[in-house]
Amino acid sequence: MQIISTTAALTAAIDEAKKAHKTIGLVPTMGALHEGHLSLIRRARKENDMVVVSIFVNPIQFNNKEDLAKYPRTVENDCQLVEETGADIAFTPTVEEMYPDGEPKVTYHFGPIEEVMEGPRRPGHFSGVAVVVRRLFDLTQPTRAYFGEKDFQQIAIIRNLLEQIKYPIELIPCPIVRADDGLALSSRNMRLSPEARAIAPEIYATLQQAVEMSEYEDVDSVCTWVVDTLGSFHEVNELPNGLRFEPEYFEIVDDTTLQPVDDWEASPTGIVGCIAVWLDGVRLIDVIRFRPVAE
Ligand code: PAF
Repeated sequence: MQIISTTAALTAAIDEAKKAHKTIGLVPTMGALHEGHLSLIRRARKENDMVVVSIFVNPIQFNNKEDLAKYPRTVENDCQLVEETGADIAFTPTVEEMYPDGEPKVTYHFGPIEEVMEGPRRPGHFSGVAVVVRRLFDLTQPTRAYFGEKDFQQIAIIRNLLEQIKYPIELIPCPIVRADDGLALSSRNMRLSPEARAIAPEIYATLQQAVEMSEYEDVDSVCTWVVDTLGSFHEVNELPNGLRFEPEYFEIVDDTTLQPVDDWEASPTGIVGCIAVWLDGVRLIDVIRFRPVAE
């Protein structure tokens, strides 16, 4: 495996692969790799002649400076994992290499799909994601690009970006990978204290119960129940040291338009619930499918 940190060297490697008519799979990451990322790399490995994994903490998608400063950076370990998982190139550029002319001025707009959930709470986030993803697309010219479904809204944004820029890239959404106790894997999990990590699986457990409830309760009641259950968990369980869940949002939405639904039959394609919860100073997100119900 090659570790490449300049765009010139990456372009040279891609040009060579293109000349040999190789298919290219791109797995964009911000590093701090875990099993979730590795599942994307494995899938890309199966489906492409060449696999590029980018490792770049993209400053322009952080609307919170502290979150950017605290974002885990483990690039040496990441490169080792990328190699063990069978990728051909780990692309590890600096900020200057990615944005040689300084912070890009371009902004992207996505209409209603960015006006819900993460969009209003993280102004500029999705435009920042789109800028870096487009840059990675330009540099790697992938046949396929792999994204995890934990960032459910991000996938809809990238799909929309591909429609806007008309690149013939196949977007491959990949299922969430969970720890044995159900917690969705995330690079941010490593910032949880042992006490917080021990209760974090409550998020997924609550979402699973919500799916059961959806068989006999309406959308609004399920929504309120999830927020109340997590929001009062510290009281019911007498947690120490001010430890508590603080739900930022839980929205039950159409899985294509991402607009909130008010009825379980409201969507022709499917319905998911998306949540963001603060725990121990860490913002965790998760997604659960309500409809169609798994067989
Ligand atoms: O999902 C992520 O890790 C990031 O948003 C991405 C797609 C790598 C862009 O920086």
